Amino acid sequence: MKETSLIEEARWAWKEAFSMGLIHDKDTSILFQSWGRLERYTNHLIKAFSHPKSLHAVAIKTQPHPKILEKIVKWGFGLEAASIEEVKKALKAGISPEKIVFDSPVKTRSEITYCHKNVKGMRLNANSIEELERMPANPDFQLGLRINPKVKTGAPDVYDVSHDESKFGVPITEREKILDAILRFPVTLLHVHSGSQMANIASASDAICLLRDIAIEANSLLVAKGISRRIKTLDIGGGLMPEELETGETSMMEQYVSNLRLRCPELWEFELITEFGQWSYFFTGYAISKIEYSIQKGDKYITYIHIGADFLLRDSYVKPRGISFGIMDSSFQWKRTRKVSHDIAGPLCFAGDYLAKNVPLPQAEETDIMILAGTGSNSYGLWSRHCSRDIPSFLAVDFERKKVEKLSPRLEAFQNF
Ligand SMILES: Cc1ncc(COP(=O)(O)O)c(C=O)c1O
Repeated sequence: MKETSLIEEARWAWKEAFSMGLIHDKDTSILFQSWGRLERYTNHLIKAFSHPKSLHAVAIKTQPHPKILEKIVKWGFGLEAASIEEVKKALKAGISPEKIVFDSPVKTRSEITYCHKNVKGMRLNANSIEELERMPANPDFQLGLRINPKVKTGAPDVYDVSHDESKFGVPITEREKILDAILRFPVTLLHVHSGSQMANIASASDAICLLRDIAIEANSLLVAKGISRRIKTLDIGGGLMPEELETGETSMMEQYVSNLRLRCPELWEFELITEFGQWSYFFTGYAISKIEYSIQKGDKYITYIHIGADFLLRDSYVKPRGISFGIMDSSFQWKRTRKVSHDIAGPLCFAGDYLAKNVPLPQAEETDIMILAGTGSNSYGLWSRHCSRDIPSFLAVDFERKKVEKLSPRLEAFQNF
């Protein structure tokens, strides 16, 4: 049987939510999470690595909705936290501490003490040797050190963290300092995260080989010095581009893992942590918006919708990530009018608020609905209060069991003030 595409699932979900009375007049846009797709991606990750001792810690920042975190935790996954607030969100979602990986580059001394006293067993990665100096002598968390591998990952500049001026990690070129720090501080974990939206799997693998080399060298040094401690965990971060998983085809994730198995088989001898965010979520979310209107400008149309740079900051401020668009009429059917070129404009009062330009789509009118498929990552979590627009309500969809539920209602942007 042919698989239902994400955009078709979105069309079904909108219709179902409407018939269940989950959508109200004020809902000019709605956000959706597909449970089935999220389960498929996270399971694919486990299967691709097939690692006997692994913790797949999905990055919270990519999708911090509390109900979604609860689901990830229920399925047994770990969570990567970029702030103490995210550590607390993870705990609230019911996770056990050893499945939390705390990676903030700017931890306060009191946050470190909080983790030491209250989140015993968690993993905490220091961002620099200077930060190691702040750690308790015998931490009640597993202490890691982040390394900047300085490889060229092909990530867009704003997401590339492995260049010379990166604020993240100790540069791999400072090898002696790294080894000395591993001898002096109770480090048992080494961490790299080279960038997000990395285009180059080979150099992403180079980074992990470099991490492995340091771990092996450090362990021999620890043996030579008669220290019983070892580097036992390698945290390889996240960073793979979003991809659509197709049944029967080798995924990019599987290619990445094959590359690692070939070049870095020792990875399967250490405990493994991964931190994939965007790859896990991008193709598991969708959104719909009323089309407010569409006007002709020269030979194309500007089509105004109710979500823009407030929801999809990355697409608007950096570059479109590959969201697909579709237009439905008010009876939930795909629009069949002639295709014209659309610039898809958001509702914010600034010139850059476009989600995509020159998109060929059927000509739209006021009562139509725009579907956006591929909005699952770095969208809801980046919600911007620019122009103070409401945060849309958030629904979850179990397409296989034909169920839709409300995760959170429409909220004012400054509701608690
Ligand atoms: C330390 C760390 N790990 C994991 C991630 C997730 O990256 P991605 O969403 O590209 O997989 C990030 C993203 O910024 C990060 O900073």
